[in-house]
Amino acid sequence: MVDFYDELTYETNPFPETHPGNLAALGRLFGVQTPLAQQCRVLELGSATGGNIIPMAWCLPHSEFVGVELSAPQVAIGQAVIEALGLGNIRLDVGDILELDPAQLGQFDYIIAHGVYSWVPTAVREKILALARDCLTPNGIAYISYNVLPGWRMRGSVRDLLLYATRDAQGADAKYHAAIAALQRLQHALQDAQADSHRYVQKEIGYLLKAHPSYLLHEYLAGENNAFLFSEFLADSGRHGLQYLCETDLHTLFDTTLTPPAQAALGDIDDPLQHEQWMDFVRMRTFRQSLLCRADLPLERDIDVDVFTTFYFSANLRLQGEASFTSTTPATFLYPDNTELNVAHPLSKAALLYLQEVHPYTPDFAELLANAAQRVQAAGGKSFVSERGELVSELFSLYSYRAVLGHLQPCLMHPGVPERPKASDLARLQAAQGWESIASVHHLGLSVDAFASHLLQQLDGTQTISELTEKLSAAVASGALNVAGSRKEVRDNVQHLLTVFARHGVLVN
Ligand SMILES: C[S@@+](CC[C@H](N)C(=O)[O-])C[C@H]1O[C@@H](n2cnc3c(N)ncnc32)[C@H](O)[C@@H]1O
Repeated sequence: MVDFYDELTYETNPFPETHPGNLAALGRLFGVQTPLAQQCRVLELGSATGGNIIPMAWCLPHSEFVGVELSAPQVAIGQAVIEALGLGNIRLDVGDILELDPAQLGQFDYIIAHGVYSWVPTAVREKILALARDCLTPNGIAYISYNVLPGWRMRGSVRDLLLYATRDAQGADAKYHAAIAALQRLQHALQDAQADSHRYVQKEIGYLLKAHPSYLLHEYLAGENNAFLFSEFLADSGRHGLQYLCETDLHTLFDTTLTPPAQAALGDIDDPLQHEQWMDFVRMRTFRQSLLCRADLPLERDIDVDVFTTFYFSANLRLQGEASFTSTTPATFLYPDNTELNVAHPLSKAALLYLQEVHPYTPDFAELLANAAQRVQAAGGKSFVSERGELVSELFSLYSYRAVLGHLQPCLMHPGVPERPKASDLARLQAAQGWESIASVHHLGLSVDAFASHLLQQLDGTQTISELTEKLSAAVASGALNVAGSRKEVRDNVQHLLTVFARHGVLVN
C-alpha cells in the first residue's frame, strides 16, 4: 500500500469542529449530559504531528489528551513541542490503531478520528468503531470524518487520473510533481471545453493546483481512499453498538437549507435518517463529520432551543459597510476568507456587531441580547427591540452554519494590544519551529507567513511596538525574511498582525 506519512509530514492543523467544547455543546442540544471540555479525557486516533490536540491540551490544562499515530517521525515532531512546553496533560504515542487495547487505554469523553476513517483498510475502520464503543464514557461522543458517496465519486474521477499519471513515479516528491504535471496537461487540454463534466474537472484542477502538497498526496495518491453512503456508515456504527447523534455541520440536518422543490420531493420520507441519506443524494455531498455516541444513550431528537440560549457565543466575522438597525435590510458580514453572509433582523445585526467588537470574549445570551437591544434602541429601531424570538432563531441558524460558535463555558479574554505585547509560549514555539498554522483561543487555525512567524517569535513581552517595528524593518531590509516592504508597510503590517493576534487570544498578559 502506498503511503507518504513518514516521507511527507501531514499538515495537521487545529480543527475547530473536533474540539471537545464544540462536541460537548452539540451533545447538549440533543439532551446528552456531555462532560465539560475543561475537565475531560480526549483520545485522537491518527493524530499525526499533534497539531490538533496539542493546542487543546495547552488551552485546557485540567483535561487529559492521548494521541495515537502510526508514523514515528510525525510523533517525534509533536513530542518535541510537548516537551518544550512542559505539558503534563498530553501524550502522543507511536502505535497502530489495530493493536490498541481498550483496557489499557481507559475511558474517554471524546474520541476524535479526523481524516482517518476513509483512508485506512477495513480492519482499521472496524477497530475505530470498536474503540469508540469500548472506550467512550456513558455520555461521551466520538467524532469521525469520512468521504461520502455518491458525491465523492466525482472527486474520485480526478483521483483515477492522478493514480494513472503517477504510477511510475517513485517517492512522494516525484509523485507530487508528476501529479502537478498531469493536472497542468489536463488544464491545457480542457481550456476551451464547455461540457458540464469538463467544467467540473476544470474547477477541481484549479482547486488542486493550489492545494497543499500533503493534501494532494494523501487524498488523491495514497493507497487507501474509501467513500461510503451515509446509510452504510450508520449500519457499521450500529453493528458496533453506536448510534448517530448529528453532524458538526448542523445545518445539513435541516431540509430548509434545500430548495423548495427538493423539500417537497423528500417531504414524504418520515424516517429522519433515511431523509438525511436522501439529502446527501440531493446535495451530492462529498464529506461528513459525524458524531456518534453509545446506542443505549437516550437522545432528544428535537433540538431544545432553551438549551441553546444557555450557551456563550463568539463569531469571527466583520461587518462590511453599514448595517441598518431600523429595518430588516440585510447587512453583509464577512468570514475571514471574505465570503459573505447576509443578516436581516436588527437584533441579529447588532448582536453580530457586538461579537465582532469583543472577540474572543464570549458573552452569554442575556448579555448579547441586552447589548443588541441597546444598540437597536439607540439607533431608533424601538419596534424591533422586543423580538427576542427572531434573534434566537437567526442566531441558531448562524450557529448551525458555524458562523457563530456556541460554548458551554465562557472565554473571558478581552481584545487589546498592550504596549509590550507577549504571545503565548505555544504560539511562539510553533512559529519558531516553522508551523504554518497556529491555534487561536477558540481553536481556529491562523495561517502564519514568514513575516508573521518572525513577529510572533519576537513577542516575549519585553519590546514595545515601535521596537518591534524597528526589528521587523531591519529584517525586511536585510532580506532575511524574503519579503519586500517600505518602512510604513512594515509598521502597518505589524499593527495589523498584533490586532489579529489580540482578537484571537494569541496575546497573553
Ligand atoms: C490523513 S492523515 C490525518 C491526520 C490528522 N488526523 C488530520 O486530520 O490532520 C491520517 C493519519 O492517520 C495515521 N494512520 C493511518 N493508519 C493508522 C493506524 N493504523 N494507526 C495509527 N495511525 C494511523 C497516518 O499515519 C496519518 O498521520
